[in-house]
Amino acid sequence: MVGSGLMGAGIAEVSARSGLDVVVSEVSEQAAEAGRARITKSLDRAVGRGKLAEADRDAALGRLRFTTELAELADRQLVIEAIAENEQLKTGVFAELDRVLTDPDAILASNTSSIPIAKLAAATSRPAQVIGVHFFNPVPVLKLVELVPSLVTSEETVRRAAEFATDGLGKQTIRAQDRSGFVVNALLVPYLLSAVRMFESGVAAAEDIDNGMVLGCAHPMGPLALADLVGLDTLKAIADSMYGEYKEQLYAAPPLLQRMVDAGHYGKKSGRGFYEYSS
Ligand code: 3HC
Repeated sequence: MVGSGLMGAGIAEVSARSGLDVVVSEVSEQAAEAGRARITKSLDRAVGRGKLAEADRDAALGRLRFTTELAELADRQLVIEAIAENEQLKTGVFAELDRVLTDPDAILASNTSSIPIAKLAAATSRPAQVIGVHFFNPVPVLKLVELVPSLVTSEETVRRAAEFATDGLGKQTIRAQDRSGFVVNALLVPYLLSAVRMFESGVAAAEDIDNGMVLGCAHPMGPLALADLVGLDTLKAIADSMYGEYKEQLYAAPPLLQRMVDAGHYGKKSGRGFYEYSS
């Protein structure tokens, strides 16, 4: 794994619980510690709920190693990048991974939800082995993985990535073309942005918008609570990428979303978004 934020930690946790040997690369000791703490907390929660034996938690933790050197991923067969939704940062990571990975068959995957896989592939000397492998938050709970080959990804890479997600992790896959947002976010993000616009224009209170969709449509959570869960900074970054790709108004981030991100109100992860969260 490259990155152990909300998504990276979830993917690393699920991989280690599935018996895989995982190395997690982070930018600093502090970020690595935060990633380890996030994974440990989630595993402890599973133990607390009686879903995981203590011995299995300890075994999973034993399969996870943290580093601040990308070069320590050199012997990996599959690397999944899950850093911030920023094209420049991601292409930099892909170029460096391409330099350090020693296995000529290694797959380079990205958990991006909106940045073209073709652009990441172009940063490497092995574009046929670059693929989008997109998970959903919370990763331990949600079954889906979107597989996103670019125009130059080989079918063998798609097959191996699918095998990793299904046989390896017990997930289910859908396949999508390399278009910003793929299937799920192309439908979900306009919905979340519409809810922000509705709130901004004063049609209803946040709780009423969310209760409307929970009680009226049986969604597990309302759109503003879901935006807080995804992270308002992440939602904004995804919306910006999608707007850049399609130039359609339904992907344009409303001013309120921008202001909340400017204010550091990122949602659940920062303690404040449309709702307030205690630590
Ligand atoms: N880690 C592990 N397990 C978790 C968890 C977590 N972070 N959060 C919840 N769970 C488990 C609980 O242990 C519980 O399992 P159990 O019933 O077997 O004991 C089950 O999920 C239900 O949890 P809770 O009772 O605590 O809470 P809820 O019933 O309210 O469910 C939820 C919480 C799972 C977050 C649910 O509301 C949900 O699925 N919401 C929708 C989430 C969603 O749409 N995610 C997609 C976001 S889009 C995305 O990720 C793509 C990206 O590119 C933006």
